[in-house]
Amino acid sequence: MSNATKTIAVIGTGRMGGAIGGRLASLGHTVVYGSRSPDSEETVALVEKTGDGATAASPSEAAAAADIIVFAVPWAGAEEAVNSLGTVDGKTIIDVTNALSFGAHGLMEMASDTSSGESIQKWLPGSTVVKAFNTVGFHVIANPDAAGGPVSVPIVGDDADTKTAVADLVQTFGFETIDVGPLVHARALEMMSMIYIVPYLQGRKEDAFEYYLRRGAAPKVSAGVRAAG
Ligand SMILES: NC(=O)c1ccc[n+]([C@@H]2O[C@H](COP(=O)([O-])OP(=O)(O)OC[C@H]3O[C@@H](n4cnc5c(N)ncnc54)[C@H](OP(=O)(O)O)[C@@H]3O)[C@@H](O)[C@H]2O)c1
Repeated sequence: MSNATKTIAVIGTGRMGGAIGGRLASLGHTVVYGSRSPDSEETVALVEKTGDGATAASPSEAAAAADIIVFAVPWAGAEEAVNSLGTVDGKTIIDVTNALSFGAHGLMEMASDTSSGESIQKWLPGSTVVKAFNTVGFHVIANPDAAGGPVSVPIVGDDADTKTAVADLVQTFGFETIDVGPLVHARALEMMSMIYIVPYLQGRKEDAFEYYLRRGAAPKVSAGVRAAG
């Protein structure tokens, strides 16, 4: 995935799909939204807003048209949406989802024992899943300047070349990227996204946190990973 423009499928036409699709189109990529209702008024309006040759089709038609698929649907509908993609062997899936739900106490909690990213890879074993963008708000993806400073996008995935290619693409949006490791650590990235929701839960609607990460220093002497105490 060099800086050359590509045809990219964006599955889901909500906040994330619309923001990412809009940015991709403005960067010169050909966007095809994959929607359960490609002819609906809302989808047609999004296609028009996106411009730059964007189109909408069914999820399987969109996926078939692209080698890169941005997966931007709610966790509750993720498995059904994955099943609607058809064969995606050999394709790159950029997973932006978070397996979160509201717990009984009104706080966010993980809705999976593993993570959405790992689940999608398990459901689509012939594809290569890279998790990115899941810790960034849709409005910041649409306009990174809204964050008021640099924003890091942590990325995980099992295939080094695909991960590098996705990182290159994410950087063209105006974000820094940090390679956190293999896809199994999608669960850490998905937990990170919870902090985004904390101000909302407290009614602090004007407040938000953004991640800006850098490499730090490991301890000189380590006893390995163990519980504190
Ligand atoms: N909102 C954020 O700022 C943000 C930030 C980081 C990560 N995320 C993650 O990104 C994912 C998408 O979030 P979002 O905020 O874009 O959601 P959203 O605004 O609700 O949009 C989700 C889209 O997914 C599609 N979809 C497919 N199956 C669905 C189903 N069973 N139920 C509902 N929608 C379905 C719909 O498009 P069609 O009707 O066209 O099929 C819908 O517009 C979530 O996993 C979320 O955790 C969100």
